Amino acid sequence: MPVTFSVNGEKRTADVEPDTPLLWVLRDELQLTGTKFGCGIAQCGACTVHVNGAPRRSCVTPVGSLDGASITTIEGLESAEAQAVRDAWAEVDAPQCGYCQSGQIMSAAALLARNSNPTDTDIDNAMAGNICRCATYVRIRQAIRNAAEKLGG
Ligand code: FES
Ligand code: FES
Repeated sequence: MPVTFSVNGEKRTADVEPDTPLLWVLRDELQLTGTKFGCGIAQCGACTVHVNGAPRRSCVTPVGSLDGASITTIEGLESAEAQAVRDAWAEVDAPQCGYCQSGQIMSAAALLARNSNPTDTDIDNAMAGNICRCATYVRIRQAIRNAAEKLGG
């Protein structure tokens, strides 16, 4: 049975098997390729999107569980936190190869939306599931600190 949800503010219907991972629908059906496939088993964070405002690994999220949900991908991420994160990412030149970075930004924006003044421990806890094979962790942590400062946290 088709599942209807919103993606980046637009109503979408997915007519796929209910256990199809959201990531496949985003990338293959909706051509939203900013969300990346890394491990496929919820271990790397490359596929992170927001579902009803909370970070979610789209590679292990069955589409059948999303009827009526509001999904945001990196292409539609728009908020004060998102802008502060993007600016801070550019400021510290956070990415290296870039593959993990949309997932990193989705997790960072979700963190700042619920905690505008995170401690380093808060940052580490929120970002622990986002793996970077280029080891950009120090710059990412600095970028989140800078974004929090800009947001007045
Ligand atoms: S691709 Fe989803 S967590 Fe790695
Ligand atoms: S920037 Fe290369 S994997 Fe993170």
